[in-house]
Amino acid sequence: MSTFQAPKGTYDLLPPRSATFLAVREAISGPLRNSGYGYVETPGFENVELFSRGVGESTDIVSKEMYTLTTKGGDQLALRPEGTASVLRAALQGNLHKAGLLPVKLWYSGSYYRYERQQAGRYRHFSQVGAEAIGSEDPALDAELIILADQAYRTLGLRNFRVLLNSLGDKECRPVYREALQTFLRGLDLDAETVRRAEINPLRVLDDKREEVQKQLVGAPMLRDYLCDACKAYHEEVRALVTAAGVAFEDDEKLVRGLDYYTRTTFEFVHDGLGSQSAVGGGGRYDGLSEMIGGPSLPSVGWALGVDRTVLALEAEGVTLDIPAATSVFGVALGEEARRVLFGKVTELRRAGIAADFAFGGKGLKGAMKDANRSGARFAAVLGERDLAEGVVQLKDMQSGEQGPVALTDLVDVLRSRLA
Ligand code: HAM
Repeated sequence: MSTFQAPKGTYDLLPPRSATFLAVREAISGPLRNSGYGYVETPGFENVELFSRGVGESTDIVSKEMYTLTTKGGDQLALRPEGTASVLRAALQGNLHKAGLLPVKLWYSGSYYRYERQQAGRYRHFSQVGAEAIGSEDPALDAELIILADQAYRTLGLRNFRVLLNSLGDKECRPVYREALQTFLRGLDLDAETVRRAEINPLRVLDDKREEVQKQLVGAPMLRDYLCDACKAYHEEVRALVTAAGVAFEDDEKLVRGLDYYTRTTFEFVHDGLGSQSAVGGGGRYDGLSEMIGGPSLPSVGWALGVDRTVLALEAEGVTLDIPAATSVFGVALGEEARRVLFGKVTELRRAGIAADFAFGGKGLKGAMKDANRSGARFAAVLGERDLAEGVVQLKDMQSGEQGPVALTDLVDVLRSRLA
């Protein structure tokens, strides 16, 4: 072991588990790539203000959890704690939002950073795959995203997840509700921290996990009763479209989410096998975010699914993904000249698109065959001095154990047809 360890709250992704992470990213992005979403990649850090304005000063993410730094040039930057503000910034900067091209549909995959208290499923460096549909107010887009996330999880084989759905209203009806809720909260017996939260961000109080708080919240005004007609109709349409697609959801009027930019539709995917960090993904509509960061009005909706927690959810359900072996053919050579020739054949196989590996390090037959086994390769190609003299290579089917000579010159063609 070296003197150094991965920093607190982080972990390394190592084989073989890392293959599952790749497969999860692939499975989540697959339905998006298939539905008109284009790939976007943004820097790992941004101007701090993008997040303080976008995600919100009063959120935990901005007030407590951002990794901020001042560059030698004096710029105030933050490691990105989430993807939505960055992706919208990039779309605006790249002028993707011209009329006629809306909605702009983008997907992304990357690392995010939050200085959180470490616990199972909660890390300081984690990974998300996300999607944003920018510049269109259409309930079918909200529905599309919920349906695609459900499809991704089902493709992976997850079953014990639930979809929670809510509407947070818009700039017409939410302030009226906020006021009513605040008045109610002021009459309660709450601790100083919660009283302060009630003043800055009263809706977050609804989300409080403590039972003594939840008890006092009985009888609190509910947003559902304050939604304006437009928000109500919009929400009903989202619900109808998701239902028609056969995706079950639960109405959760206390689902507020931890980012300030949400309007109308909000949703979360929760998994019941994960303990307290049960949200495997979440998202919603953010109709005002573009204007908050200095852009034009661009009503948008999106989600991000946590890759780390999705892997934990798979493990909790005992689902193992069917990940094909990375290597199809493993070359084992005995003797100097045979090594040279077989290494050349392995290169040829790779150039022909056949996944091949080689016994490095001058191991003897026994050790090299162990490597071949471990690689999961379907075939081992064994080349000894005598084979070489005869111009053949011994091809062993690692599943059946059958073995036989193949002319060296035919090796690529033979393997191509046997692997097909
Ligand atoms: P979020 O709910 O903050 O939303 O994060 C989405 C998902 O990322 C969570 O459900 C969780 O699976 C994962 N995640 C978040 N924090 C951590 C952590 N510390 N450790 C492990 N996993 C974590 C957003 O980030 C929004 N940008 C989603 C969105 C996109 N809304 C609209 N568009």
